[in-house]
Amino acid sequence: MTESTPANSDITINELGGVTAIPGLLSGKVAVVTGGGQGLGLAMARSLVDSGAKVVLADMNEESLQAAVTELGGDGVATGAVCNVSDLEAVEKLAEAATTAFGGIDIWVNNAGITRDATIRKMTEQQFDDVISVHLRGTWNGLKVATALMREQDRGGSIINVSSISGKVGNPGQSNYSAAKAGIVGMTKAVAKEVAFKNIRINAIQPGFINTAMTAAMPQHAIDSKLAEIPLGRPGEPEEVASVVLFLASGLSSYLTGTVTEISGGRNICSRSPSPRRGDVCVEPRRGGPTFPSHLCRGGSPDHREKRPDVPAGTSGRCRSVGSVSHLAFCVPAGTFQPDGRAASARVSFSRFACRAGGRRRRRPCR
Ligand SMILES: NC(=O)c1ccc[n+]([C@@H]2O[C@H](COP(=O)([O-])OP(=O)(O)OC[C@H]3O[C@@H](n4cnc5c(N)ncnc54)[C@H](O)[C@@H]3O)[C@@H](O)[C@H]2O)c1
Repeated sequence: MTESTPANSDITINELGGVTAIPGLLSGKVAVVTGGGQGLGLAMARSLVDSGAKVVLADMNEESLQAAVTELGGDGVATGAVCNVSDLEAVEKLAEAATTAFGGIDIWVNNAGITRDATIRKMTEQQFDDVISVHLRGTWNGLKVATALMREQDRGGSIINVSSISGKVGNPGQSNYSAAKAGIVGMTKAVAKEVAFKNIRINAIQPGFINTAMTAAMPQHAIDSKLAEIPLGRPGEPEEVASVVLFLASGLSSYLTGTVTEISGGRNICSRSPSPRRGDVCVEPRRGGPTFPSHLCRGGSPDHREKRPDVPAGTSGRCRSVGSVSHLAFCVPAGTFQPDGRAASARVSFSRFACRAGGRRRRRPCR
């Protein structure tokens, strides 16, 4: 241990065992966090401040901005700027304000975001444009201003762009959001190549299902089906996103640029459903029994049978026609179903019939 290494007892560890701050790690650094008035942005700001950085929060919501600045310890360590990230001029003023307040910028987090969910059939042009404007244009504005300033300062820098797992896999009802979040990945890599020679690093993160106001607003059936896809079996906490931002903001990641880090509890590692766990039970297809959403159907599996030799042949996760409906035999967590086949747990949602590909006459096994 060197003199400048903080003692273990100084490192902030949360109840999940996660490290949320490392005092002194960012001493002398200045960070801007857009959308920092609440949610993930505020958690990131807290982690940066607790690790020694001074932070400028930017948000459209003046009220939450002021409350957040106070919560972080007030003017000496944090300040707020009302800013619409979609407006380049406003973002330029934000950078000026940060430079005036704290003498430059070393870290910039493009985090501000909104959702305007609707299926492609119902989504309006306005809903599409609003989401693209905040996420894609807003991130581009942040990159343009932050890289210009960092180049001028000539002391390197770290920029973190907040994408989403939606940008990797596409979420139904989020064609606008998924497009914007996928675009952020391409933008991250392109600009990372442009400015790497100045030791300016740009990385993206893709949070999955995190407990915030944004996800609390989702309907219960959508929450249930997302939880069913998470191998770690729980939603993430804002601090667990913040700690990755801290890593990317600091010298701990000095050789990383153009990367995309998924923070999702393993969700969407691939298109398969979660692996069976100890205590799982196998559900046989039967008339009136449970049906499964198609993502489980896709994941259902020869390899589940390999991992679970005790699962009898014929219950390998293939779709089976029982009467007029296709059912899926699958390994599910014990307690998911009551003896009569109704749901006993929220881990698997089965609100719609699975595997109806091919129509009533031509059913085929799911792959
Ligand atoms: N919560 C999740 O599960 C999750 C998952 C993946 C990605 N994300 C992304 O993380 C980021 C933060 O999400 P959150 O859950 O904390 O959301 P949130 O709604 O709690 O916070 C977003 C903040 O951005 C601000 N904002 C909105 N539009 C703005 C604009 N034009 N200019 C400046 N500020 C603006 C809001 O006022 C708000 O304070 C977003 O980019 C979101 O897409 C969230």
